[in-house]
Amino acid sequence: MSEPVLTINDLSISFKTSNGVVNAIRGVDLELNKGETIAIVGESGSGKSVTVKAIMGILSGNEEINSGSITFRYDRDGEEVTQDLLKLSKKEMRKRINGKRIAMVFQDPMTSLNPTMTVGNQIMEGMIIHLKLSRARAYERSLELLQLVGITDPEKRMKSYPHQLSGGMRQRVVIAIMLACNPEVLICDEPTTALDVTVQAKILELIKDIQAKTNISVIYITHDLGVVAKVADYVSVMYAGKIVERGTVNEIFYDPKHPYTWGLLSSMPDIGTENEKLYSIPGSPPNLLHKVEGDAFAPRNAFALNIDFKQEPPMFKVSDTHYAATWLLHENAPKVEMPETLRKRIDTVVKEAGGRWTDSRSYK
Ligand SMILES: Nc1ncnc2c1ncn2[C@@H]1O[C@H](COP(=O)(O)OP(=O)(O)OP(=O)(O)O)[C@@H](O)[C@H]1O
Ligand SMILES: [Mg+2]
Repeated sequence: MSEPVLTINDLSISFKTSNGVVNAIRGVDLELNKGETIAIVGESGSGKSVTVKAIMGILSGNEEINSGSITFRYDRDGEEVTQDLLKLSKKEMRKRINGKRIAMVFQDPMTSLNPTMTVGNQIMEGMIIHLKLSRARAYERSLELLQLVGITDPEKRMKSYPHQLSGGMRQRVVIAIMLACNPEVLICDEPTTALDVTVQAKILELIKDIQAKTNISVIYITHDLGVVAKVADYVSVMYAGKIVERGTVNEIFYDPKHPYTWGLLSSMPDIGTENEKLYSIPGSPPNLLHKVEGDAFAPRNAFALNIDFKQEPPMFKVSDTHYAATWLLHENAPKVEMPETLRKRIDTVVKEAGGRWTDSRSYK
């Protein structure tokens, strides 16, 4: 049975700017279960980072939460606690949740590292403050964590400063710091984008490994199709501040329904291939300073129907786990299929990611 850890319900967030109000997040729903990984994918500016920053309570200060809840269920000394994270102040978030129960790895490891502190002190800090471990015990556990994230000679590394490490090593150290307090949820916002391909692959393996050992739940934001194939159980596709399609990785790869998902999957690079000629979706996302009429994707959608320009599509149910917000799923809509070139490409990516779903794979 799946146990929800984090549930986002109808989240809407806008930002006050000198140009006006930007409606960055427009009714997002998301569910993360224990031990599962969801990938959030979407073009630049679609609202992926804002969504996860809202979970962490680390938005910049000019935001307004217009609606919604972020329900976090966790175990506190054997007692199950249900907490709407939006009801906590930023200070309470820092004290009770951030780093301790929900941890986040950013694209640039230096965002999370203090250049003037040794690796050892940075890993030990959280354990001493949050878990009230003695220095000696925190030291021992830091060595274990460094080993867990694949760092050799951990005693020596404890004394290193961040600038003495390579980019890949720094990101491993960040992951060790994030894991130090045994969080329930790990959020990774493009943690491998700045790293070279071999290091990326190793970090991905590492996160999978840790998940197998700790049953941690993971939210993974990526622009890379191969990464989605490798890490995700579920995929949520974002466009202009909304989730426009969600499903199991199988459903999204083999039976995507939203034309935006088709375009997005066609345009995403992947770890394995050269990507010399990638498709790109024509046009650009809407300006969220203005009110969006109908389906925000309609002006860029070769398959748009008249209604797409007038009325926002609801989430149509495809299966118990698969939903998409496109009028093409209405019973009276013309039948259109995903482009054949995309199907071929996804096949290749899945093969490269290593036949995770060879048994359950279903063509429709
Ligand atoms: N503090 C802020 N003030 C004003 N607008 C903001 C602020 N933070 C984010 N936005 C806007 O919110 C929208 C979503 O941004 P977000 O950073 O979540 O995109 P993203 O999906 O993470 O993109 P990328 O893939 O480039 O990281 C963008 O239009 C962005 O300009
Ligand atoms: Mg982002």
